[in-house]
Amino acid sequence: MCGIVGYIGKKQASPILLSGLERLEYRGYDSAGLAVKNGSTETEIVKAKGRLKALVEKTDGGATLKGTCGIGHTRWATHGEPSETNAHPHCSDDRSVIAVHNGIIENYLPLKEKLEKEGYTFYSQTDTEVAVKLIDHYYKKEKNGVEALARFMLRVRGSYAIAVLFADRPDEIFVARKDSPMILGVGEEESYLASDVPAILPYTRSVYYIDNMEIARLTGGGVTFYNIDKEELQKEPVRIAWNAQAAEKGGFEHFMMKEIHEQPQAVEDTLRAAVAGGRIRLPESFNKERVQKLESAYIVACGSAYHVGVAAQYAIEDLAKLPVRVELASEFRYRNPLLSENTLVIVVSQSGETADSLAALRLAKQAGAQTLAIVNVVGSSIAREADEVFYTHAGPEIAVATTKAYSAQLVAAYLLALELGRLRERVAEEEYTRLLDELFTLPQKLRRVLEDKERLQWFAAKYAGAKDIFFIGRGLDYACALEGSLKTKEISYIHSEAYAAGELKHGTISLIEEGTLVVSILTQERLFEKTVSNMTEVKSRGAYLFGVTTYGNYALEDIADFTVYIPRTDERFAVSLAIVPLQLTAYYVSVARGLDVDKPRNLAKSVTVE
Ligand code: AGP
Repeated sequence: MCGIVGYIGKKQASPILLSGLERLEYRGYDSAGLAVKNGSTETEIVKAKGRLKALVEKTDGGATLKGTCGIGHTRWATHGEPSETNAHPHCSDDRSVIAVHNGIIENYLPLKEKLEKEGYTFYSQTDTEVAVKLIDHYYKKEKNGVEALARFMLRVRGSYAIAVLFADRPDEIFVARKDSPMILGVGEEESYLASDVPAILPYTRSVYYIDNMEIARLTGGGVTFYNIDKEELQKEPVRIAWNAQAAEKGGFEHFMMKEIHEQPQAVEDTLRAAVAGGRIRLPESFNKERVQKLESAYIVACGSAYHVGVAAQYAIEDLAKLPVRVELASEFRYRNPLLSENTLVIVVSQSGETADSLAALRLAKQAGAQTLAIVNVVGSSIAREADEVFYTHAGPEIAVATTKAYSAQLVAAYLLALELGRLRERVAEEEYTRLLDELFTLPQKLRRVLEDKERLQWFAAKYAGAKDIFFIGRGLDYACALEGSLKTKEISYIHSEAYAAGELKHGTISLIEEGTLVVSILTQERLFEKTVSNMTEVKSRGAYLFGVTTYGNYALEDIADFTVYIPRTDERFAVSLAIVPLQLTAYYVSVARGLDVDKPRNLAKSVTVE
């Protein structure tokens, strides 16, 4: 949902801003823009509709925009169509205030009316232009950047990470934040700002986190923080462990393919970070007494992270004997869930910034529930606001369609389930060790699944023209079907549905016609024959069957037209392996259709608006 960057120092700002935006383009990509100032001369603004490439061409890779201080933006339209006019940066009428913004100013219409009465005119349809003119209004009174932003923050409702240039302050950038991500980096006589870490990784790994309702002033000499009362705050920079190469394509054609191949590592790193001496290390407060008192758990998340929850509920209920409900964060936040101090609310999120998940977390905390976040991005809002955090170690994920973060989340959830089971005395020591050892075999088994990719490429080329695809499975296989279907939809633009296999004949089977592709997942021995029966039902109505099952279940070839095998593992963990052929198929279909795999239309990786 929009990416913002900023630089102030001794180097030319434009190339740094453009490279930062390139690394943030996954957040939005319908237009982009830069504002760069060179000392006290007028600030230049350049914008272009479409992908960042258009802005790069327009500025000759930044060469036409000289200056050592600037801000940039890549947009995912919320207010107003994607156009050059609506693109950021936005400026006040006399250009004395210029800003880029990520988030939504909810009360922008009444503010706009008030500003119009003051004589302001508006050229765009955006809420950001209103924000800029409001800041201008306050700045004109006192000529104080911190003061103007503090007053702006008191006046607006909504979310923002905003970076502001004032014409009469050539060596400063001011920022403010509420509920939209932003980090600040510092190097040798230079400061950076960005929506996400990868944007500044090539330049510095020393970052500050700016909290909600805080303001910062960036200069070449460093960053100064203020609270809304304009009092200075002291903060220590944090060293980011990710390296710059982690956010490069590394020889792969697309980030998604690279990230699919990074899954064994992501799983292994997540396991290694959480396990020591044969024990899973949950945050310390997860002691026996507390865990045994738990009465229920909720897993709350969006998109693929929600699908992790659908799979994780089986492991948690089975191993910890704790009732689990899985909820979409966007639904959970608007009902009155029955929460108590003995409820554990687990929020799963790669970015740690998803607006609905964050709101759900806040609701759970307010209701007195215990909260645990499974998050990938260190220092993100969800990580900071949850009572406890279980970090996944997937590294930076750039492709909009998640793969390695999903896999790391699954493993984190299995570890949680297993440890809760031990603490609740539902998993005996021997079983605990067996399951933990089994989890450590997953990286190797994942590598084996990845070796079979050529067959999937062949299959995908054949089915790239499909109109509808159905994914079916029972139990955990249904959880896997949900994620396989979402992967297909988001990057191949083919309509697809995931169905609990036994539910098909209650309506959906009427959609099956000659040649309809039905992907069936069969990793649960107990349910194998049941799903085969459902496959037979659709086959007799003309479906073409793609089956995913475990090695040894060769009888599936009697009915399936195309079969892929995954290594055996404990059935509770099978989704981790079965999802990979589905990710690969979605990827190859997208490539065969000539689509933009990493940046699918209408989507943004981090959904920081409601
Ligand atoms: C999946 O491929 C999507 N990118 C999307 O569903 C994603 O999982 C969802 O938006 C949640 O994001 P989060 O994990 O960062 O909270």
